[in-house]
Amino acid sequence: MRILIAGGAGYVGSALIPKLIDRGYKIDVVDLFWFGNSLPSDVGVIEKDIFDLQVSDMSGFDQVIFLAGLSNDPMADFSPAKNFVFNAAAPAYLAYIAKKAKVQRYIYASSCSVYGYTVNELFSEDSPVSSSYPYGISKLQGEEAVMQMATPDFSVIALRKGTVSGYIPRMRFDLLVNTMFKCALEEGVIHVTNPAIWRPFLAIEDATMAYTRAIEASESLSGIFNIASGNHTVGEVADLVKLEVEEEFGKRIALDIKHIQDLRNYKVSIDKANTVLSFHPHQSVRSIVRSLISNMDKYGDLNNPLYYNIRVFKEIEKGGQTAPPLVTTEVNR
Ligand SMILES: NC(=O)c1ccc[n+]([C@@H]2O[C@H](COP(=O)([O-])OP(=O)(O)OC[C@H]3O[C@@H](n4cnc5c(N)ncnc54)[C@H](O)[C@@H]3O)[C@@H](O)[C@H]2O)c1
Repeated sequence: MRILIAGGAGYVGSALIPKLIDRGYKIDVVDLFWFGNSLPSDVGVIEKDIFDLQVSDMSGFDQVIFLAGLSNDPMADFSPAKNFVFNAAAPAYLAYIAKKAKVQRYIYASSCSVYGYTVNELFSEDSPVSSSYPYGISKLQGEEAVMQMATPDFSVIALRKGTVSGYIPRMRFDLLVNTMFKCALEEGVIHVTNPAIWRPFLAIEDATMAYTRAIEASESLSGIFNIASGNHTVGEVADLVKLEVEEEFGKRIALDIKHIQDLRNYKVSIDKANTVLSFHPHQSVRSIVRSLISNMDKYGDLNNPLYYNIRVFKEIEKGGQTAPPLVTTEVNR
């Protein structure tokens, strides 16, 4: 099976692709390489904007996965206009040309951020969605656009992921557990903006498993699925990171607890993914921290701007040089 992954050089794609290659899939990536290229050398690389692809570029692919766009709130807030283009229009355009080229399945990287702010409710895929901030609104727009293209011969699967964390060669320290871990190491303090806020979190190993299950699901299946390793309050996540770091390094980690109002507060049920996709997560916050610890020799400077999407994005918006030199090979079809 041949799979085209848009945005495949990012955090999720860099972890997913080696696993798909292991399973025998042939992978090509289309990406702007904002954060460099940590992909295996046997991946076909197209260095392009999604909007520069044509229907003819899609031919020969069995499935297309969208992992591109502006992938967090700080980027979306910095450039709301670009956010709506890259997060809403790009997945719609890519699905449109994929369907025209008779690709069989399209998988969309949605987000639990579509749920917005709620108090103490467990959200299923049928619950109302209500984001009030650019990132959440645009992820929902992208999702709605691609889902309505689903037909019996064009399967569309949207994975509403919780906040992903864990070690990946294309590293990010701007994601919940990773950020807490980094602050614990560097400052001896974990900053908590609001301990009462609920968040579904997702270990990268469970995230890649969800994509694998979606790719390998029965041919005609379409649908939206919540994907998470678990739900915790941010206060509890901080306690778990603190515990693990203290046990490993034998030093006391302080908590800096604030009570700042947040626009997001939600927890999700993964029953549908469980039953329909056979998605059964295995990881926990503590196992994520253990994986971060066991890869510590690979990070170098924890403040490398490449580890923080917003820093790279601001440079791109200024027209500056961003990622290190790319190791790219033009796709060979
Ligand atoms: N990381 C998370 O916690 C999380 C949670 C829920 C949903 N998501 C969604 O999952 C997807 C992947 O997240 P990530 O953390 O891997 O993101 P990332 O920011 O690490 O990577 C995104 C990649 O997309 C590329 N890209 C962006 N716009 C492009 C375009 N127009 N054409 C070609 N390439 C483009 C960038 O160069 C980058 O390599 C995103 O759509 C994100 O919104 C992420």
